[in-house]
Amino acid sequence: MEILRQFVNATKLHPILVNFTAALIPFSVFSDCLAKYKKNIFLRETGWWALLCATVVTPLTAAAGWLFWMKDDNGVLGMTIHKWLGTSLAILLFGLFYSRHRLHRQQKFVNSFYIAIAIIFVLALIVQGHLGGSQTYSSM
Ligand code: HEM
Repeated sequence: MEILRQFVNATKLHPILVNFTAALIPFSVFSDCLAKYKKNIFLRETGWWALLCATVVTPLTAAAGWLFWMKDDNGVLGMTIHKWLGTSLAILLFGLFYSRHRLHRQQKFVNSFYIAIAIIFVLALIVQGHLGGSQTYSSM
């Protein structure tokens, strides 16, 4: 475990992986919304693939976050929220992907319910990124 922690700290793996999570999820939702509006099958497939990639990478993002935890993050309210919100998002993403995958198998465009949940997810992701970034850049 200590070797893994040293690896994550040396490579700054968490700040690298967050970019994939932060890009792929909004990109997927945007593609799906545009696909529904334009009735475009290629954009719909893009939405599904992007969410699949996000679902694979986000648990790694969260795991790298746990290993990246530093002493000065302890007792900081924003970082406590960041820790548990990030962990929850990584788990809930499986649920979002499951519902997206069902639509994919039925070859349907996303419905309004999915879009509403996905937008809430993206908003939570923005809060998550803001909290992490605030902690990193406040100490610079
Ligand atoms: C969806 C999952 C997550 C996202 C999108 C995310 C996002 C971010 C972002 C954008 C930063 C700033 C990185 C930089 O520019 O240097 C950051 C920093 C950080 N995150 Fe996360 N994070 C996630 C999950 C987690 C989890 C689960 C933990 C810990 C349990 C965690 C711990 C940290 C730590 C320790 C830092 C560095 C704070 C410092 O500089 O002291 N993150 N995160």
